Amino acid sequence: MLVLGIETSCDETGVGLVEDSRRMLANTVATQTDVHARFGGVVPELAGRAHLDLLVPTVETAMAQAGATWKDLDAIGVTLGPGLVGALLVGVAHAKALALAHELPLVGVNHLEAHVYANAIDHGDLPLPAIAFVVSGGHTSLMVMEGPGRYEPLGATLDDAAGEAYDKVARLLGLGYPGGPAIDRLAPSGNPEAVKFPRALMEDPDYPYDFSLSGLKTAVLRHVKAVQSRGESVAVADVAASFQEAVVDVQVTKALKACRDRELPRLLLAGGVAANTRLRERLTKAADRAGVEVLVPRISLCTDNGAMVACAASYRFAAGQVTRLDVAADPSLPLDAGASVTTA
Ligand code: KG4
Ligand code: ZN
Repeated sequence: MLVLGIETSCDETGVGLVEDSRRMLANTVATQTDVHARFGGVVPELAGRAHLDLLVPTVETAMAQAGATWKDLDAIGVTLGPGLVGALLVGVAHAKALALAHELPLVGVNHLEAHVYANAIDHGDLPLPAIAFVVSGGHTSLMVMEGPGRYEPLGATLDDAAGEAYDKVARLLGLGYPGGPAIDRLAPSGNPEAVKFPRALMEDPDYPYDFSLSGLKTAVLRHVKAVQSRGESVAVADVAASFQEAVVDVQVTKALKACRDRELPRLLLAGGVAANTRLRERLTKAADRAGVEVLVPRISLCTDNGAMVACAASYRFAAGQVTRLDVAADPSLPLDAGASVTTA
């Protein structure tokens, strides 16, 4: 079974091909970082337009990389949502056109689900049920994952997503965009104990699995302003390391609490922020002590890509799930979106 996957939910145009559910034959990502960098964040209108320019050549490159012809394919997978509507629309329209032209079934997937399935490419069939933890530019989501399209949401961010907080703080510190990798690179040269930043909702019984990062972002801003008003220079590496430590502390605590509470000693970490060195390091160590097995994809499969979409679509397709061609891109597609996916 050979499936092509298309990802256009944000600022990466990704096309991947996956054979037998998880053998990756191609994974081409055309990044738009240059388009958005001078604005310090993703500009939705520009993202949609860039996907239009980049998608056809990216599909061609991925097909050539896999050495595949259209006749070899069994299905077209695509991210239906969540994401930027103008960006999603480009991928969904193109996937429908390919499905029609080549008489192939269309399989729509949820973007968060696709992130989690990146783990299957690297580690084999997902050990389900498990706790899945998606930390990305647009999301922080903790859930019980039972199977493709079957999720029980446990908690999410009440304000900024994890990657969004990294990007905003990096901007504030003059580290450029995207901010996550910049903070990740700088933090090891700083002292994570230098500034005591808040760990919001860390042990809050009313919000056991939820996250809040806007207060932390404000605390960083206040710290920077206070230092500057004293005429001193900001110890950027210390601030970056202290900020990162506060984020990671809460992430590790809550993810392992979910595993413990649900008696599921398996954690699937995913999303762009799962590329973070400190999070990978601290979570792996803490999980080891707690007897929890942590799966995390290689770094290049953490950020948005088409192979993870092809993989998630393969599992849905193998489970008999095919999407109708009149499906619409949904910028706030829920995780349990069985409704938009009709069994053939
Ligand atoms: O999953 P992703 O590619 O896109 C979304 O679905 O949102 O995640 C992108 C986010 C950006 O906010 C970026 O700054 C963050 O992931 N990111 C990181 C790292 N690499 C990417 N954050 C922290 N540490 C990293 N190494
Ligand atoms: Zn993503």
